[in-house]
Amino acid sequence: MHYIIGNWKMAPATWVKAKKLTRDLLEQLPAGDDAVRVIVCPPLLYQRLVGEAIAPAGNIVLGAQDVHFEAVEASTGEISAAQLRDSGVTYVIVGHSERRALGEDNAVVAKKAQAVIAEGMSVVLCVGESSRDEHWQDFLVEEVASVLSLLAAEDLERLVIAYEPIWAVGSAEADTPEGAQTSARLIRNVVRERFGEEASEKIAVLYGGSVTEKNIESFAEASELNGVLVGRASRDAGQFSLIIQAFL
Ligand code: PGA
Repeated sequence: MHYIIGNWKMAPATWVKAKKLTRDLLEQLPAGDDAVRVIVCPPLLYQRLVGEAIAPAGNIVLGAQDVHFEAVEASTGEISAAQLRDSGVTYVIVGHSERRALGEDNAVVAKKAQAVIAEGMSVVLCVGESSRDEHWQDFLVEEVASVLSLLAAEDLERLVIAYEPIWAVGSAEADTPEGAQTSARLIRNVVRERFGEEASEKIAVLYGGSVTEKNIESFAEASELNGVLVGRASRDAGQFSLIIQAFL
């Protein structure tokens, strides 16, 4: 299975534009096949409306960009995993570097992953180093291990890991496919240590960070990768379609 996940982040600025983007995606997205899953993660405010628009076509799955880590009503401004599920969400990004930059640590990210899985949805766990200094591999291993330590073997069916080096996210510089695959192997090693060989082969590892329709071919061909997490280019129906096309 390959995953192509569009993270709209805090865009578009208005519902009118979000509606247009949704319409454009529905018109332009290739039909896809069973081996490719396309997921879009709109801003929370548009989620339900986007979800209702995409549901009849059935070729796009609804995702969310974040979730609160506990089901406590006294959490002003937050959204629970149960609320996301009730809104038709099936995949939830946790640990995106733009959330971690606001102070979210590995312990919180791990609790979010647990909350998502407990509600029967799937987690898209984002991990990645801020620079390739002498500690970057330890940093990456710790990000993955801290979440895996709270999960059981059967939870892995509901886990996708997106390797997103922070220096490549929202920048002009994507990682190379070789670099992304080295990190994917590192991530699979962590899975292997905790859950064994079969689990490490099965787990989906994606790449994210400045993926575009221009560099997608090499990521689509990379055998260690199971898809991509796309920010900016997912908000252009034409570009996103070409990215999907590369996997078909
Ligand atoms: P980008 O964002 O594609 O705009 O670099 C990727 C992401 O944040 O997931």
